[in-house]
Amino acid sequence: MSDEVKQYSLEEIKEHNTAESVWCIYKNGVYDITHYIDEHPGGGEQLLDAAGGDLTAEFDDFGHSDNALQILKKLKIGELRMEDRVKGKKTENKEKSKGCCAIM
Ligand code: HEM
Repeated sequence: MSDEVKQYSLEEIKEHNTAESVWCIYKNGVYDITHYIDEHPGGGEQLLDAAGGDLTAEFDDFGHSDNALQILKKLKIGELRMEDRVKGKKTENKEKSKGCCAIM
């Protein structure tokens, strides 16, 4: 069985922003939460607001339980493709001058 993870573009995910089809992003994973909308203890509104976009901050801010994460995991359909991931945090070039003088 091939275990290839499907890659989705941001454009494609954005299109799934109506009650008919709700996709969202959580930590670069792509989730089809369409059928979870009605079951969400926090209400469907919250999820619909995040439809087609990234709900990482909202999800983490609430401090969801491990169970919530397990539910989310089961709804995973793929991952956000590399080129659409937030580049953000440029790793600072912490080059310490090593004062490398070759001692002869
Ligand atoms: C698909 C993603 C989500 C899943 C699977 C999910 C799942 C859950 C679950 C299982 C609970 C019950 C408490 C717990 O186990 O932590 C819960 C509660 C809650 N969630 Fe979510 N949630 C999601 C996204 C969100 C988002 C994006 C928000 C906010 C914008 C949110 C806001 C809340 C709130 C406010 C409650 C508390 C409801 C109450 O106890 O009255 N959730 N969620």
